[in-house]
Amino acid sequence: MATFTSNRVEETIEFARDWARNLQPNDVIALLGGLGTGKTHFVKGLLRGVGSAEDATSPTFTLLHEYRSGRLPVFHFDFYRLTQPNELEEIAFDEYLEDGGVTVIEWADRFPEVLPERTRRLHFEVLDESRRLISERAK
Ligand SMILES: Nc1ncnc2c1ncn2[C@@H]1O[C@H](COP(=O)(O)OP(=O)(O)O)[C@@H](O)[C@H]1O
Ligand SMILES: [Mg+2]
Repeated sequence: MATFTSNRVEETIEFARDWARNLQPNDVIALLGGLGTGKTHFVKGLLRGVGSAEDATSPTFTLLHEYRSGRLPVFHFDFYRLTQPNELEEIAFDEYLEDGGVTVIEWADRFPEVLPERTRRLHFEVLDESRRLISERAK
């Protein structure tokens, strides 16, 4: 199990940037953990890791943000306000998974059944006001 302790916001962004450098087309990443644990800041760093200068913001109200300026497109989902999985069918969620980009999903554990087998899981936990624990786990 790989774990990382971030001592401040910038460390979360740098960790994500480095972690994302080896991402491949059609990779799927589930970001798990409560509000304010650093999931959206991780995506900010992930974008840098794929060479995008865009700034990730939470897609809480839109379900999806697409970032296409890096070496791979990034499809950034947030399931926080999703009430039914058929909302994902309406936006053809499955097609994003196979579209040659990186799919990264906040609150992915709200609908674990829609995640493909290959999904990598990153858990985010608050240690204190400025520290976060990020761990990659099999489940
Ligand atoms: N080490 C850290 N890494 C990431 N965020 C941190 C850290 N320390 C404090 N924070 C704060 O925690 C919040 C994380 O917000 P965000 O990334 O939007 O979380 P989430 O998407 O999980 O709700 C921000 O207000 C940020 O300033
Ligand atoms: Mg968020």
